[in-house]
Amino acid sequence: MKELKDSKWFDVEFVPKDYVFSKEYGPRNLDSPVCDSIPVIDLSKANGHIDPVEAILSASQEFGFFQVINHGIPENKVSDAMSVLKEFFDMPSKETHTKGWIYTNSTDYAKDGVHLWRENLKHPCHPIEDCIHLWPENPTRYQEVISAYLVEIQKLSLRILEMICEGLGLKGGYFEDMSEVQLLSSNIYPPCPDPNLTLGILPHQDPSLITVLYQGDSTGLQVMKDGQWVNVGAIPNAFVVNIGNQLEIISNGRLKSIKHRVVNNTRDTRLSIATFVNPSPDCIIEPAKVLVNEMEPSRYTPKQYKEYVQYNNAFGDYTVAIQNALRSEN
Ligand code: OGA
Ligand code: NI
Repeated sequence: MKELKDSKWFDVEFVPKDYVFSKEYGPRNLDSPVCDSIPVIDLSKANGHIDPVEAILSASQEFGFFQVINHGIPENKVSDAMSVLKEFFDMPSKETHTKGWIYTNSTDYAKDGVHLWRENLKHPCHPIEDCIHLWPENPTRYQEVISAYLVEIQKLSLRILEMICEGLGLKGGYFEDMSEVQLLSSNIYPPCPDPNLTLGILPHQDPSLITVLYQGDSTGLQVMKDGQWVNVGAIPNAFVVNIGNQLEIISNGRLKSIKHRVVNNTRDTRLSIATFVNPSPDCIIEPAKVLVNEMEPSRYTPKQYKEYVQYNNAFGDYTVAIQNALRSEN
């Protein structure tokens, strides 16, 4: 007997009109060669002459993006996280937890009436033990697998922030108390019949300190460099790290929060896990005192993080709302 399957929104021969983004977004550059210029940094050792601290700092100044390899996160924790998320997205019906996680099918998210070619799951992460009950209960191993993944991401992100701290000449531990892996946002981008018409994520900057992204072996992420979109190559087991707006402010503009987007492709499904390492909501974000002097006056007005995100970013809004909900729960 033939199995009757629900057809999915992306099982189409042509891109539906309400997924078509105008030409103003420019060509999607899919055929251009993958740009290898986003620096790849080996964290395992100061290999030969390259000091990872220096490499991270110069990548953050020039690109706002870099990839890290030999980061010490066990492969199985990463592949388990990827497979449990894949299972989540494959489930025929998904709800949204009233206070916790949000699942958006492509059709729920639109800009000027146009939908992104993706599905998204996001939920709060910090502190894990206080918000794990706000995460999906299905697949049944979701909570266990994702918390194990996030513990590793927290360690890695602190390590990277500590290196940035050293590179900028800030006092050790500068970020330790203020930074939290607050939000997980996972996207699945199904194959698309005409990727030149669609977008997976619109051009944006992240409102984080740093964002740590796992993209498996898929491409699609593009970064703005000298007015052009360049492709970020897929490197097995690497994490893509980018500087968010808050770190740009703290560094008084030395490190760059760079615009990026995701384009679709015809053959492969892209699955990504972004974790936003944010300042805690009450934290005042301003240029670090040691980076401000007569020659380089402060370029940003101090602002509480929650104030910043509420006015600038729907995503951040969600983060703060969630943190407040968690606080009122306790
Ligand atoms: C983001 C982001 C890229 C991706 O969530 O801010 O840029 O590949 N994600 O999903
Ligand atoms: Ni982003």
